[in-house]
Amino acid sequence: QANAMWGGRFSKGVDAIMEAINASIDYDKRLAAQDIEGSRAHAAMLAAQGILTDNEAAAIREGLLTVLSEIEAGEFQFSKALEDIHMNVESRLKEIIGEPAGRLHTARSRNDQVATDFRLWVREQHDAAIEGLQALIRTLLDQAEAGAGWVMPGFTHLQTAQPVTWGHHMMAYVEMFARDIGRFTDARTRMNESPLGAAALAGTGFNIDRHMTAEALGFDRPMANSLDAVSDRDFALEFLTSASICAMHLSRLSEELVIWSSAQFRFVTMSDSFSTGSSIMPQKKNPDAAELIRAKIGRVLGATVALFTVMKGLPLAYAKDTQEDKEQVFDAADTLMLSLAAMTGMIADLTANPDALEAAAASGFSTATDLADWLVREANLPFRDAHHATGALVAMAETKGCDLADLSLDEMQSVNAQITEGVYDVLTVQASVASRMSYGGTAPARVREQIAAWRARLG
Ligand code: ARG
Repeated sequence: QANAMWGGRFSKGVDAIMEAINASIDYDKRLAAQDIEGSRAHAAMLAAQGILTDNEAAAIREGLLTVLSEIEAGEFQFSKALEDIHMNVESRLKEIIGEPAGRLHTARSRNDQVATDFRLWVREQHDAAIEGLQALIRTLLDQAEAGAGWVMPGFTHLQTAQPVTWGHHMMAYVEMFARDIGRFTDARTRMNESPLGAAALAGTGFNIDRHMTAEALGFDRPMANSLDAVSDRDFALEFLTSASICAMHLSRLSEELVIWSSAQFRFVTMSDSFSTGSSIMPQKKNPDAAELIRAKIGRVLGATVALFTVMKGLPLAYAKDTQEDKEQVFDAADTLMLSLAAMTGMIADLTANPDALEAAAASGFSTATDLADWLVREANLPFRDAHHATGALVAMAETKGCDLADLSLDEMQSVNAQITEGVYDVLTVQASVASRMSYGGTAPARVREQIAAWRARLG
């Protein structure tokens, strides 16, 4: 039996395999609310323009609400034969209100319809990501505030480099996640234009008002080119690339939590609520949530690459290839929101261990740069010479198996005669971090300024 929507041209129905590859209803039913919102705006506009009667539009708009409540209640019978959410909704509308349902698709195509639905859906995901990131930033600010003055080792190459503060380390992630918010915000602004009324690709001969539907759907304006409106998915790619960068940041933080919670580091204790045990080793407490978030970038970036590959080389205008956009974006968005929520929970529940942080900060000759800087300031050495002299002192301490501060003044002076008692003042980790008052530096006073600035910005 030929298709109810386009049966006029067809004498028989589709092969079962055709239906299997063609139908998108199993996943695009997630666009039901957006589809109905778009159709209600379209119907109201058609009536305002005299293309439908007020009675027809009212019946359509009412009927669509009934369909929506059926879907929300889980009573709706989705049909694969009806291919996608658009035709499932319209077909049910016809059962409910009869003839006027067939007038809804005037001056519209599924091409601008799906572009509209998907934009509405992706727009919500931008908002959800921004909200999730704000919550995460707040928990990071709390951690930073609690440990603004705790000293820990700062690393380069994962080797002890210079002492930094716990607050400074937390605030580094605040900066990263705040840029993620910026990316979602920018992309949201750019994507907030309405494709509705582009129709199949060329626009329509009906006297429609695209500004009216754009406004009703919360878009800033209608898209200016109908070919572009139905065919590009750059807005979904911008969401995915922003999500990928954010997932990458989450992955880096996760990796640090995994390392820090190990018995070798003991920098932090993860809460029981975000850890798991082992079925064989009774002592184990594993940071599974952190490990999973570390891995989720694989899915999000995978979705990004998949959609780029779908879009590459697609000629204008609409092509069915773009139906492959949805599952990727759905999965990436779900993954990102779950990761943000889990990270927020983990950070909120995280207990740092200031004693272990400080002990680690002092090991590995972390104040060697402070010694070299002292030689530049107090003995007027060129930095390169100071670096060399300090290196010799590090080698001496290493041979003796002690810290720099444990070398006697005589030993120090054997390397450079100008060294005085005052040098010991700069060899503590507290003095080291307190001295780093340059803008953006790790000094507790600077970190507290940054925390206050971010709190003011977030409101
Ligand atoms: N399910 C389709 C999609 O996701 C809707 C648009 C179909 N349009 C068409 N001309 N076949 O892209």
